[in-house]
Amino acid sequence: AAPTSTPETGTGVFAKTRARITERTLRTDKWWLAPLLTVLGLAAFVIYATIRSYVRTAYWVDDYHYLTPFYSPCLSTDCVPGSSHFGTPLGSVPAILPLGFLVLPFLLLFRLTCYYYRKAYYRAVWFSPPACAVAEPHTKYTGETRLPLLIQNAHRYFFYVAVLIALINSYDAILAFHGKGGGFGFGLGNIVLLGNVILLWAYTLSCHSCRHIAGGRLKHFSAHPVRYWFWTQISKLNTRHMQLAWITLGTLVLTDFYVMLVASGTISDLRFIN
Ligand code: FES
Repeated sequence: AAPTSTPETGTGVFAKTRARITERTLRTDKWWLAPLLTVLGLAAFVIYATIRSYVRTAYWVDDYHYLTPFYSPCLSTDCVPGSSHFGTPLGSVPAILPLGFLVLPFLLLFRLTCYYYRKAYYRAVWFSPPACAVAEPHTKYTGETRLPLLIQNAHRYFFYVAVLIALINSYDAILAFHGKGGGFGFGLGNIVLLGNVILLWAYTLSCHSCRHIAGGRLKHFSAHPVRYWFWTQISKLNTRHMQLAWITLGTLVLTDFYVMLVASGTISDLRFIN
């Protein structure tokens, strides 16, 4: 296919100094497959998460105190009794907003500005560029120096909020060790909730900003053994950041789906204790 703009006017691959290649790419492999799978995966998650965040049903299992992460923390008087672990300071929330509206945008911004997800959607959604050695359709390139992409630089601050939310999710997972008649209880739902929280921590702590917070700007590692140790561990985890990004999208859906099935009475939780 021919390029979509004239090389003379553009920057990047269309700049005057670049070789004039009329084909968009000379690649003959299936370079479009990875961006296609990426966009399908992201779209599936966004559609599922949006629907579930708005329905306001089957998000809390009163018998076992299971709460889906999509509704945590539930801070509105509209939340079903028992699901508000931190009170109801928000009062009633209009149906146009999800009950988790205070937290969900930060989680979304955390993922949107994530270094891995940027790679994923810059390629799969914005075609900037869609793959190595495949020319992008845009004629101008301003990087992350202007709005809205300038916000990418605030990733570190969304990381701090994400840590706070991971702590809340951990608290929810601990409260979920609750038996039907009260006291301690343990069921399959606990394994699901706990597994999700552990993986959320792994994803959050493997963040590039977290790695920099732990060990960045140090002149001498030897003078900061504790920070160096954390930096080393986070660096190991960081090599799995992409996998963790995808795995946690999956576990979030799985956890919510499991809670939904139990809360709606479609299945009953497999109980080991009480
Ligand atoms: Fe991915 Fe921070 S870089 S969450």
